[in-house]
Formats: sequence, structure tokens, C-alpha cells
Amino acid sequence: MEFEKDLITLKSYSKEQIQHLLELSSNVKQKMKKKELYQPLKGYSMSMIFQKRSTRTRVSTETGMAYLGGHSLFLGKDDIQLGKNESLKDTALVLSRFNDLILARVFAHSDVEELATHSKVPVINALSDTYHPLQILADYLTIREHFGKLEGLTIAWVGDGNNVLHSFMVSAAKLGINLRVTTPHNFRPNSEIIDYAKTSSNEHNTEFLLTDDPKEGVKGADIIVTDTWVSMGQDEEYEARIKAFNGYQVTEELGKFANPNWKFMHCLPRKQHEVNDEVFYSKRSIVFDEAENRMYTVMAVILALLRMDK
Ligand code: CP
Ligand code: NVA
Repeated sequence: MEFEKDLITLKSYSKEQIQHLLELSSNVKQKMKKKELYQPLKGYSMSMIFQKRSTRTRVSTETGMAYLGGHSLFLGKDDIQLGKNESLKDTALVLSRFNDLILARVFAHSDVEELATHSKVPVINALSDTYHPLQILADYLTIREHFGKLEGLTIAWVGDGNNVLHSFMVSAAKLGINLRVTTPHNFRPNSEIIDYAKTSSNEHNTEFLLTDDPKEGVKGADIIVTDTWVSMGQDEEYEARIKAFNGYQVTEELGKFANPNWKFMHCLPRKQHEVNDEVFYSKRSIVFDEAENRMYTVMAVILALLRMDK
């Protein structure tokens, strides 16, 4: 299957490409669970630029790359010249001479776009202020494992209109998934992405709802999802945000308005105000499967972008 050079956002990926990545993730997962030796990436290397903190993305990618036989270099915010002494363009041009792939976690989405424009090798967005495509691939894999399908399901997002939500909004309708979004009025998602989600849901005959009432938002939901109320880079807004999100905690009480067998997801890291312990550590919660699947999905992306997915 053909892929574009990079993975910057799932907006530009088709249903078939996303499904192919999910299949490939499942295959890699089976191999890895069996400890089957599978090292197609011997001699390959990847630079991983992290301008923000990370546990899951960093560890899953480094571990996955090592399993595939490749080498990865963790480049934290003070490790390279980028941002202080060297432009994105020059960094991309230089790293392309050393590495077969670049993965980058950045603040401004335009930074990862600029890296991709100038890099000669594939660039993977490992989270920007606007999108988190690797997370959503892992979420879809996890949902597919638990529900046996994606099409026809309803995801209810309760929380901030942030990067993780945006990635659902540009991909859910294509996969036949209904999306019900609840955010406080002042924390709605990006308006262009709202327009995109509305158009896409009309095209694909799915539901897209935007509300500020959590009880309304979770009606008919198979999955309730939330994320941090204070994303990286928003620390100064902490108090105002906690106040604004009062009443948005995911609880069994709220879940009474969803489908009886609803599951809970969160990309992590999690704080108690977003979801109480009763839900977070319950059988409903599939958050640790979701975290584990970050590894197989990033491995699938690496293989597909390197055309090693045959
Ligand atoms: N979910 C996620 O991307 O986690 P990290 O910030 O720990 O990578
Ligand atoms: N929305 C969060 C996701 C962290 C994985 C953030 O951007 O900080």
C-alpha cells in the first residue's frame, strides 16, 4: 500500500491506510508476544526529537525500534542545537544525512510540518500542540481488540478540546465512528477542525456532536475518553482550567447515561480530577492496553513509512 512520505496528521490518511496500519500493528504485536525474532531494520536508525516530556511515546518507540533491529537516538530539548543555535530546516537536512527516520515531539504544529518539508527521510509527528496521530492509532487498535470492530461505535470525548481530540476529529468519521464531544464552551476544539469533522461526518454518514453538557455528550457512548485538562505548555493556565472543567470528571454516575457496557480510555498521564479511581482502575478501563498498544502502532508506522510492511 502507498503512503505519503510522513505521518504528520491522520487527516491526510485514508480509511484503507489506517486499517492497513492497524493490521500491521496486530501482526507485529503477535510476533513480539511470541518473542519471534523479527529484525528487518538492522542497519537503520531514527532520531527522536523531544521538545516536551514523554514516557509512553519515548519508551514505546525506543523499545519497538530495538526489537525491529534498528537504533534510535533520544534527543531531548538540550541535546541538540535545534531551537537555540540551528534552524528547523538545517536540522532536518543534517539529520536526513545520518538517519532513515525522524520522529519529533514539538510545541507548534508548524515545526513538525517544517521538519517534514525539509527532511529527505520520513518524519513522524510524536505530538504537537494540534495533533497526536500515534496516540489515536493505538486507541483504534485497542478499541478494535475490545469491541471486535470500529464501524458503528460511538466515542464520547469529555474534556479539553485539545490535540488528542483533534486527531479523533480528523479520522473517526472515515472509519464509520460516531463522535460526541463535550468541552466547556471556552475550551472547544480548533474551529477549522470542527468544520472538517462536520463535513467528514456528513460525507460518511456518521454523527458528530458538540456540547458543553457531559450527560448529553455521553448518551449512547460505547467508549468515554478523556485526557489531561492542562496540556504540556499550558502550565500557567492551570488554575483557570481546573475551575472551568469542574463537573467534567468521568465517574460511574456520568457513565449511567452511556451504553451499559461502556469502556473508559485515557492516553495518560492521568490526574484524578479527570477520572476517579473507581472508573480508572475498574474493568471498564482499558487504559493500560491502550498504553501498551502505543508500541505496536508506532512500529507499524515505522515499517510502513520505510516500505518494509510487505
Ligand atoms: N500518551 C502519551 O503520548 O504519553 P507520553 O507523553 O508519556 O508520551
Ligand atoms: N494533551 C496532552 C497529551 C499528552 C500525551 C498534551 O499535549 O500534553
